[in-house]
This record gives sequence, C-alpha cells and structure tokens, in this order.
Amino acid sequence: MQPVSPRVVELLNEALTFELTVTNAYFLHARMLDSWGLNKLGKVFYDLSIDEMKDADAIISRVLLFDGHPNVQRLNAIRVGETPEEMLVLALDSEKAAVAQFNAAAKECHDLGDHGTASVFEEMVLDEEKHVDWFEAQLGAIERVGLPQYLAQQIPAGEAPA
Ligand SMILES: [Fe+2]
Ligand SMILES: [Fe+2]
Repeated sequence: MQPVSPRVVELLNEALTFELTVTNAYFLHARMLDSWGLNKLGKVFYDLSIDEMKDADAIISRVLLFDGHPNVQRLNAIRVGETPEEMLVLALDSEKAAVAQFNAAAKECHDLGDHGTASVFEEMVLDEEKHVDWFEAQLGAIERVGLPQYLAQQIPAGEAPA
C-alpha cells in the first residue's frame, strides 16, 4: 500500500538507522563485557541488542508494507565505551535520544494523518523509556554502592567454559 506521504518512509528509515546502530553497539559491548569477565552485565547488553534488532525488524516490515526500501546500509557512528561505566553512560544517551526521536516521529506521523505508523513509534517509545530507566538505575546503583562493588556483582558464579 501507499503511505500517506513519502516522509513516513523516511522517518521509518531514520528510526531503522538508529536501531541498527544500537543493535551493533550493544552486541559489541556485550562481547567486550564477557571478555572482561563481567558476563552478567554482558548478558543484559546482549539481550538488549536482540530487542533493538526486533525493533529494526518491525520497522523493516512497516517500510515493506508501504512498498518502500528499507535502508539497512546506513549506520550512525558507533560509540564504543572503554569501560563498563562508559558503556552505561553511552547507552543511556542513546536510549534518551531514541525516546526523543521516536516521540518526534510519532507526532509527525499524527500530523500527516498516519496514525498507524504513529502508534508503531509510540510502542517503541514505551520500550525505549524502559531502557532509559534501566540504565539510569545502573548508574544510580554505581553512585550508591561504588563502582568496584557494582562490578563485582556482574561476575557470574564460576563454571567451566563450554
Ligand atoms: Fe529500540
Ligand atoms: Fe533501546
């Protein structure tokens, strides 16, 4: 079907770029955290990267519904954290940016009269808000218990590598 405006497909592709970028960033951070022995935090980044990939999947489907071309070539710059704390700060930044971008996209879709796509963005905002909250909580926990104590909690119980 045709979108109400080609702008809708542009907005979806901008969101797709965002989701693919964070998918990659979180996946890389997950594996870096694993390699540092901080597998519990690594697992969260891993799971979040899959979540973001599912967002990308939903956006691709929506673009195809409009007979548009999903742009999977484009990525924003991937900011790599050099420490676990930096990874959390970068992730919080990204999630806040996602909330702002998707809220703006939802509003623009409503203004264009495309309430279906607006609701796709609104659902994603709800997810990204949960991500914001989780990363804020981690940084809050670090402030309260201290970084070494926080990091010690990210080490899994000993087990032989598979
Ligand atoms: Fe997302
Ligand atoms: Fe997110």
